Amino acid sequence: MPHTLAVQTPEPGIRLVTLQRPQALNALNTELLGELSAELDGAEQDEAIRVVVLTGSRKAFAAGADIKEMAERDLVGILDDPRQQHWQRIARFGKPLIAAVNGYALGGGCELAMHADIIVASEDALFGQPEINLGIMPGAGGTQRLLRAVGKSLAMQMVLTGEPIGARLAQQAGLVSEVTQPELTLERALQIARRIAEKAPLAVRLAREALLKAMDTDLASGLRFERHAFTLLAGTRDRDEGIRAFMEKRPPEYQGR
Ligand code: HXC
Repeated sequence: MPHTLAVQTPEPGIRLVTLQRPQALNALNTELLGELSAELDGAEQDEAIRVVVLTGSRKAFAAGADIKEMAERDLVGILDDPRQQHWQRIARFGKPLIAAVNGYALGGGCELAMHADIIVASEDALFGQPEINLGIMPGAGGTQRLLRAVGKSLAMQMVLTGEPIGARLAQQAGLVSEVTQPELTLERALQIARRIAEKAPLAVRLAREALLKAMDTDLASGLRFERHAFTLLAGTRDRDEGIRAFMEKRPPEYQGR
């Protein structure tokens, strides 16, 4: 049983993971990152799980890497930091991941949210990379993913001043897909998860892979990948079922084959 997470399956196909270190505003210590990466590995291997929703508390999604733990590590300690492997496992997660963000998403907390495919945020959420205030810089993908999400100017401003941005600006900039009232954030994330979980699993998988490809490849290679993926789906039973169901004016019944 994890100590720093609550894990539920609120409905078939959807795993809900809630960060639970309230005494430290869900600061990401080694134990939490280890439990989270193990949980995602489990969800990936479980064929019944289609989408994972990740959330925190009303006050904080996560206030960053655990500063108290970080203080104990010098240069060599950071070089051999076991948390790095946990971050890599989280980044490799192969199914749709939706972050429902209330309150603070700072430092490693903002970086964790950016590992998600979709971020739904409460209107009072705050996204920031305040590491510069500690004499350090983002270290879990913050410089790379933030720049890709919000563009150079805003990413520079956030990382170099350490000042957070609100959910509305985060949405305008493209970091967040939707902004909700605080009490509706998780519900909306679960609703999106449900929509995705209803679709043909192989189509979801390949469409997600193609979109992620766009983050780190040139246009021609990305288009080639898309074409291959699109062609592959033509050989699936679910594609036949999707088209047949449309013709017969009934909901499709996908099998993941
Ligand atoms: C450890 C933390 C923490 C953190 C908060 N706490 N953030 N502990 N690591 N990142 C603890 C506080 O010490 C305090 O515990 C309790 O949580 C409540 O926090 P308060 O500060 O009392 O709450 P509040 O006054 O409401 O202020 C909220 C806050 C502030 C603005 C979010 O806590 C804050 O600035 N936190 C640090 C944010 C930050 O700098 N994050 C980036 C970290 S570096 P006690 O026991 O004292 O009551 C990072 C690098 C990533 O993330 C690199 C990845 C490889």
